[in-house]
Amino acid sequence: MSKRKIVTLPGDGIGKAVLEAAIRVLDAAGFEAEYIEGDIGWEFWKHEGDPLPERTLKLLEEHKIALFGAITSKPKDAAAEELDPAMRGKGLVYSSPIVGLRQHFNLDICMRPCHTYKGNPLNFVRRDADGGMEEPEVDVVIFRQNTEGLYSGIEWSDPPQNVHDAFMSHPKFAKNFGSTPKEELSISSRIFTKKATGRILRAAFEHARKYGYKSVTVCEKPNVLRETSGMMYKMAMEMQKNEFPEIELWNTNVDAQMMWLTKNPENYGVIVAGNLFGDIISDGFAGLIGGLGFACSAQYNPDNGIGVFEPTHGSAPKYADYPVSIVNPVAMVESACMMLDFIGENDKAAKIRKAVAAVIAEGKVRTYDMMKMRGSADVVNEGAASTDEMADAIIARL
Ligand code: NAI
Ligand code: MG
Repeated sequence: MSKRKIVTLPGDGIGKAVLEAAIRVLDAAGFEAEYIEGDIGWEFWKHEGDPLPERTLKLLEEHKIALFGAITSKPKDAAAEELDPAMRGKGLVYSSPIVGLRQHFNLDICMRPCHTYKGNPLNFVRRDADGGMEEPEVDVVIFRQNTEGLYSGIEWSDPPQNVHDAFMSHPKFAKNFGSTPKEELSISSRIFTKKATGRILRAAFEHARKYGYKSVTVCEKPNVLRETSGMMYKMAMEMQKNEFPEIELWNTNVDAQMMWLTKNPENYGVIVAGNLFGDIISDGFAGLIGGLGFACSAQYNPDNGIGVFEPTHGSAPKYADYPVSIVNPVAMVESACMMLDFIGENDKAAKIRKAVAAVIAEGKVRTYDMMKMRGSADVVNEGAASTDEMADAIIARL
């Protein structure tokens, strides 16, 4: 049988180092694959004017599964300034290739698990009633709608007249913004569709059922965002009542959730939210289990079978050019485990997760973030493990 092909999208900055480390771990776990590298990121923006070239889309369309490192994004004007001289003046506008990838393949389900690793010095602790310390176990899976909401990209500064006219037909706009000159307006729209909202809710409920979570929490803001958040909560109530009666449906406002997650994070199971709020709360929960070095994610479309698996951290440019990479590869390794689960290689995923847990529990090999050091090229001389040493420790456990 020919080997399964996996597209690798290292991207920018630390993306390459963590991806290489994860592939070494996959190899050591006995996962046999052929890796095909795809072009994505800043270099392709600078030289080709497109951070997500068509050939990369074709590659993913053909092979379906990708491991993604991270990309660098910069604001519009800064991006335009870095274009090769030959590419300038053509009206090229930078937009994030990872957001583009999600929208192109409708990777609308984003899953971000956050669970406590025993022995991680970064774990959330709190004082108990007797003045001692307790370390509540976090086991939360966030389902983030990945293609709509405030990340739809439907936005304007100085909106065109017909858009302005449409807004003026809303009495609240006319009353509160009608006297603001058009040139002084920036507008981002928050769009929810029933179809995508239903899909993310269903993914959340099904996950809760399959893995025995007792609750699904809709984390939005329906008291203020009555149309979008309101629709999500209403649909969740119907779905729970008709199809998932054994699962409790909870409703939290996103601001309150940020408070609850540092008071009683152990009470939450599956959480579902729109795009921006899902992004925010998943980073919040990641902070309780060690931060970005531990935050993994899967994004996929159940209809076309395309899945992209990535750590939620970015390209951390300040650490990108060290002679020895210092960043924590665990988030990328755990994202690779989510890929293995997605393609039915659950045993290998379980094996790797067990090895990661054992290395963290033992506490002998720790990257700088786990030692609460400030990141610098020196940390490896001060006792922190490098990216590769962390990967080696995981491999040794396998
Ligand atoms: P970042 O996630 O790249 O880095 C923030 C900080 O988190 C780093 O300075 C470092 O202290 C820590 N960190 C990140 N990954 C780590 C790891 N594996 N191990 C240990 N520590 C780690 O976010 P930042 O600095 O806001 O953005 C840098 C660039 O990345 C920007 O251009 C941004 O647009 C992009 N970005 C890309 C994402 C993606 O590719 N999906 C997601 C987030 C940001
Ligand atoms: Mg984020």
